[in-house]
Amino acid sequence: MQKRIRPASSFSGSITLPGDKSISHRYAMIAALAEGDTRITNYSTGADCHSTLGCLRALGIEIDGQGTEFVIHGQGLDGLRRPASPLDAGNSGSTIRMLTGILAAQPFASRIFGDESLSRRPMQRIMKPLGEMGARIGAREDKYPPLDVDGGQLHGIDYVLPVPSAQVKTCILFAGLFASGETSVTEPVRSRDHTEIALREFGADITVSRQKITLAPRPKLTARDLTVPSDLSSAAFFLVAALLVPGSRLSIHGVGLNPTRSALLDFLTGMGAQIRIPELESHNGELVGEILVEHSPVRGGVIDGALTTALIDEVPVLAVLGAASAEGLIVKGAAELRVKETDRIRTIVDNLRRLGVEAQELPDGMVIPGRQKFRAAEFDSFGDHRIAMAFAVAALRADGESVIEGAEAAAVSFPEFWDTLARCAG
Ligand code: S3P
Repeated sequence: MQKRIRPASSFSGSITLPGDKSISHRYAMIAALAEGDTRITNYSTGADCHSTLGCLRALGIEIDGQGTEFVIHGQGLDGLRRPASPLDAGNSGSTIRMLTGILAAQPFASRIFGDESLSRRPMQRIMKPLGEMGARIGAREDKYPPLDVDGGQLHGIDYVLPVPSAQVKTCILFAGLFASGETSVTEPVRSRDHTEIALREFGADITVSRQKITLAPRPKLTARDLTVPSDLSSAAFFLVAALLVPGSRLSIHGVGLNPTRSALLDFLTGMGAQIRIPELESHNGELVGEILVEHSPVRGGVIDGALTTALIDEVPVLAVLGAASAEGLIVKGAAELRVKETDRIRTIVDNLRRLGVEAQELPDGMVIPGRQKFRAAEFDSFGDHRIAMAFAVAALRADGESVIEGAEAAAVSFPEFWDTLARCAG
C-alpha cells in the first residue's frame, strides 16, 4: 500500500492514541496465567498485540471482546493447553521472546514462528538463559525462529543480561514464575519495567534493588481490571511532527509516562522543545498524563549510553528531527538497531538520503548534520512500522508531495496512524 503525504502548513489538534504495545502484551500474557477474568481496556489495536492474543487462544485461553476491550479468562499457572498447531507470532519480537519464557515451562512441546522479518531476528539471547534454567529449545541455525520448545520443569537462575533488553528480562521472569527457587535478573542498564509493575499488580512477589530484579516462584496471580495507557512510542511521531511544522499546537491524552520510557520527553525538552505535562496520575502502577506540545526550534543532541536503551524505538523519528535541528543528531552505541524489525541504521540512513539529507552510517549508530532541507521523495518502509511512520512525519516538512511505499506496515503497532496524521495536518 502507498500513502501520499503533502507538506503541512500546521499540525494541530487534540488526539488520543492506541494503547501501549509493551504493556498490552504483558497484561494479556499475565492475565492468561492468573486465576479469573481480567478485563483490559484500551488494549493496543496493533497487529503485534493481536498476535499475542492469537497465541494465547491457541494455548486454550478464552478471550472475549473486540476493538480495544477484551476479557481474558485466566486459567492459573497450570491452565495452558498443548496447541493444536504452531503458534504464529507474526512480526512481533515481544510475542515470541516473552511467550517462549512461558512455553519453556509447560508440560508439552510447542513450536512458535513468525513472518520473514521475525525469522531473521536473534533468539540466542533468550535460548541461553532459558537453557540455564533447564529448558530445551531448538532453533533454525541454532539462533532464528521457528523455535521448537520442549517444555518441562525449570529451576530459578541468577542471570546478568549481557545486553539490556526488556523482552529478554521479561522472558526470564515469565519462566521464573514456574521455576523451582527464586529467579533474578540483573540489567547493565535499566530497561522498561512494565513487567515488574504488572506482575506486582497481579500479586507476584517481585523485588527490585538497583539493577537486580528478584521474583519468587509460583505466585498466585489474581485477575483484575486494567486500563492500558496510550503508547508514548506512538506519540513520539506526533510530538516530532508538531515540533517540525511551524504554528503547531497539539495535545495528546492519556499517554503512558513510565520513567523508564519518558526519557524521550526529557531529551526533547533538553533540546529546547516546548512540551508540558499539566498533571500526572497513576493507573495500575503506571504513570499517565496529557502531553502538550508546540512547534519549537530544537538544538539537536547525542544519543549514547543508557539513553540509547531508553530511546531505542524512537531513533527513527528522532533522526528526522535531528536533520532539521540546529546542530544535528549523533547516535552511538546502538548496534541493537540493526536487529530490530529491519536493520534500522540502514533503513533510516537510506530514507534520509532519499529525503536529500546527508547522513553517515556508523557500525553502531549514525551522524546526521543539522539545518538540512527536506526534499519530497518516494520512501520505503522496508516493511518496518516505525520507518513508515518516521518518514511520513518527514514528508510533512518536504518541498512537495511524497510517497510512502509499504505504508501498511504501520498497522503493526498503530493501524490508526494515517487517519490521525491526516486529521492533525493542515
Ligand atoms: C520492548 C522492548 C524493546 C523494544 C520493543 C518492545 C518490550 O526491545 O525495542 O519495541 O516491550 O519489552 P528489546 O527488548 O529487544 O530491547
